[in-house]
Amino acid sequence: APPRIVVTRQIAEPALALLREAGDVDLPQPDRGLTEAELHRAVAGADALVSTLQDRIDASVIAAAGPRLRVVATVAVGYDNIDVDAVTERGVLVTNTPGVLTEATADLTFGLLLAVTRRIGEGERLVREQRPWEFRLDFMLGAGLQGRTLGIVGLGQIGRAVARRAKAFGMEIAYTGRRRVPEEVEAELSARFLPQAELLASADVVSLHCPLTPQTRHLIDASALAAMKPGAFLLNTTRGPVVDEDALARALADGVIAGAGLDVFEEEPHVHPGLLELDNVVLTPHLGSATVETRTEMALLAARNVAAVLSDEPALTPVRSKVAS
Ligand code: GLV
Ligand code: GLV
Repeated sequence: APPRIVVTRQIAEPALALLREAGDVDLPQPDRGLTEAELHRAVAGADALVSTLQDRIDASVIAAAGPRLRVVATVAVGYDNIDVDAVTERGVLVTNTPGVLTEATADLTFGLLLAVTRRIGEGERLVREQRPWEFRLDFMLGAGLQGRTLGIVGLGQIGRAVARRAKAFGMEIAYTGRRRVPEEVEAELSARFLPQAELLASADVVSLHCPLTPQTRHLIDASALAAMKPGAFLLNTTRGPVVDEDALARALADGVIAGAGLDVFEEEPHVHPGLLELDNVVLTPHLGSATVETRTEMALLAARNVAAVLSDEPALTPVRSKVAS
C-alpha cells in the first residue's frame, strides 16, 4: 500500500501536490487546530505526519501513530511544541523549515521596530478614530534609530538578517547568546558580543531571536526588564514564553522601558489584557513568516523532507541527525 501521509492543517497546494506523489494524503477537516484526541485519531497508521506549531507532538502521539511512522515534519522553524528526545528515541525523525522564513521574519521584526519607535500603530489608531490632530513640530515624536544600538538575543539566521537591516538603518549591533558566532560573521555585521546583562543595560532596542527552550523561558522577566534602559524598546518575534508577559505589561505601564513590539504571546491567541490597554506596544498576530512566498516555501520544504524519508533518502533539514534504530 502507498504510504499514508497525515497533514494536520491546510498547507500550500504545491506542497500537497508533492505529497500526493509520495503517498495517500489525509487532511483532517475542517481546517482548525486539532485537539489531542483528534490528533491521536488522525495519526493512527500514518507513515508521515506534517504538523504545525499548534500540534503538541510527544510520546503519546508517536504511540497513537503506531510502528509505521517514520517522520514528523513541522511547518515551522521553531519546534518547542515537539518533544524531540521522545520522538527520536522511538526512531522517528523530526524535520523543521529553517532558512526559507529568515528574510520574511526579519522584515516583520523590522516592521515592528519601526512601528513602535515611530508610533505608527498609535498614529494609525488616532487617524482611524478621527480624533483631532494637526501637524505640529512637537506632535507625536518618536525615537530615531541612527547611531542607536540594537541588542540581538540569539544571532542565528533570523538574528543575522535583522542585524543586516539594522546596519542599513545606521544602527550599531550588539548580540548575546550561548556562544559567539564566527569572527567573519561578527565582522560582516559589525556585531560585538556582550554578556546578556551588559547587552540589556546598553541596547536601545532588544530583539529576541533565540529558540524557546527550558533555558530561555521567561528569559525576559521583571529583573531583565529592570536592567534595560528606561528609553529602550523590546521586540519579540520568536516565541511568547521567552517573555514574562505579566512583567512586561507592568514594565510598560510603569515606564520601566519605552515600548514593545510583539508578534508572539505566551498563550496564543490570548493576549495579556494589560498589554491591550497600552499605547506604547504594537501587537501583531504571529505573522513573522506570513507571506505567500514564504508559507509556500515552508510547506514545500516540509513536503520534500517527507518525500525524502519515505524514499529512504536523507532528510533535507532534520533537527537531529540521528534517530534510534
Ligand atoms: C513560526 O513561528 C515558526 O517557528 O516557523
Ligand atoms: C532560524 O532560521 C534561526 O537560526 O534563527
